[in-house]
Amino acid sequence: MNPKAFSVIILAAGKGTRMKSPLPKVLHPVAGVPIIKKVIDAARGAGAQELRIVVGYGEALVRKVVEPMARVVSEPMVRAASEPMARASSSDASAGSIVCFPQTSQLGTADAVRAAEPGSLQGVVVICNGDHPLIESSDFDAVMREFHDTQASLAVVSADLKNPGSLGRIVRHKGDLRAIVEVSDASKDTLNIREVNTGIYVVKADVLNKYLPQIQNHNAKKEFYLTDLIGLAIEAGEKVIAIKARKQVAAGVNTQGELARATRVLFARKRRALLDAGVLMIDPTTVYIEDDCEVGPASVIYPNVYMRAQTKVGAFCVIEPNCYLAQARIEDSAQIKANTYLESVVIGAKASVGPFARLRPGTEIGPDAHVGNFVEMKKTKFGARSKAGHLSYLGDATIGEDVNIGCGTITCNYAVDKQKYRTVIGDRVFVGSDTQFVAPITIGADAVIGSGSTITKDVPADALAVARGKQIIKENWVSRTKAASESQDGPKDQTKE
Ligand code: UD1
Ligand code: CA
Repeated sequence: MNPKAFSVIILAAGKGTRMKSPLPKVLHPVAGVPIIKKVIDAARGAGAQELRIVVGYGEALVRKVVEPMARVVSEPMVRAASEPMARASSSDASAGSIVCFPQTSQLGTADAVRAAEPGSLQGVVVICNGDHPLIESSDFDAVMREFHDTQASLAVVSADLKNPGSLGRIVRHKGDLRAIVEVSDASKDTLNIREVNTGIYVVKADVLNKYLPQIQNHNAKKEFYLTDLIGLAIEAGEKVIAIKARKQVAAGVNTQGELARATRVLFARKRRALLDAGVLMIDPTTVYIEDDCEVGPASVIYPNVYMRAQTKVGAFCVIEPNCYLAQARIEDSAQIKANTYLESVVIGAKASVGPFARLRPGTEIGPDAHVGNFVEMKKTKFGARSKAGHLSYLGDATIGEDVNIGCGTITCNYAVDKQKYRTVIGDRVFVGSDTQFVAPITIGADAVIGSGSTITKDVPADALAVARGKQIIKENWVSRTKAASESQDGPKDQTKE
């Protein structure tokens, strides 16, 4: 066993009453990711061997989110220069198995650790709260380094805060760590202490298993406090230290306000990473890009853009204002113009989409294609260099290369039998404006569709199809009609009609 290896117990059984939400606290999304996933990823990134998650409130739901993470290996994303790429490498991430341990009633943080059956753990154990989403792998790295360097038996991770709020206070005597005191049990003097307990502990398994059973619930809340481990171990003469961490490590989420603050920090972190990687942003503070998204260098992101769900934008792309991109893949040098909504789509290199386009799941736009304003597509493959410049609905369609779709074209894909049918349009077809294709229908390559047609039958390649009422001309009809009516009735007083 690697002497630097460690296991992690994550406490996540609490309801999070102050969130005033039925969702278990640790499942609330922070910048698009469940809070607890941030903690799990940070621990795994630092090389955690085994993760034990203590679950209670909303157990089934928490398991549903957490257990699949045991299999998912996250790919490296665009990262800040300060975060080494190796962190997210698959070999690191796969190291940490994830097992949930139920805590039947929430009797306190020490009781939660007991629920994780620490008796079966060896080596070094890290215990942390599941509600601190700003923690990063580098924080775990730093803490582990100091723990090993000092050869301590037990360490609590602390931070100095201007407003220590409801966090447990680190009590020292002549500089030496003495105890952690919870706010509900603290004297006025103790409340003035600015050094707080971040809720992270590093402990040798045998030390944990020696003192954990001794913890009592003799406190204001009648809970079993894990914080009492510190006082007990110090009294018994163990080497116990406090390791200082960044302020953000102490930022637990207990309220919606704290969640919103953490969300802001994570979005800012992502923006900084992207700016460092060469992405241009006109006004970064208005751009929201979730952590699992990527943007290539020299791409420009205008204000009010939101990207989520593994959206990948290539290099040299332009994303104009007010665009929403979810699970979108935008290839190099593509341009997404203002107010465009993209969901589960692929946009080929150098294509341009929008303004005001809506491309729905299953749409693929070929390279150099053009999709203009007020065009909606769904499950449509749109070939290279094809154009749909204005006001069209193209659904369940396969459209070839170099096709021109005239303004106001509609694929009538939904039939009275409530089934969806496909429209297939070959390469180089020219579709005149205001055409309807009543699917299922196939248009052969190079065909021309006269504008205003309602096409109900397949059109062979190379043919012209026109399907509209014939135009009738009646020469001088207006003046003749007028003269006829005047001679019959005499001039009319228009105002009386
Ligand atoms: C705890 C610490 C406090 C520290 C703070 C950091 C104790 C007694 N206090 O306080 O010193 O400053 O964290 O955020 O440990 N949980 C369970 N089962 C339980 C109780 C809690 O799993 O029976 C879990 C919660 O889901 C949560 C974590 O433990 O993820 C911390 O619990 P919480 O009630 O938020 O503790 P704090 O009052 O914040
Ligand atoms: Ca907390």
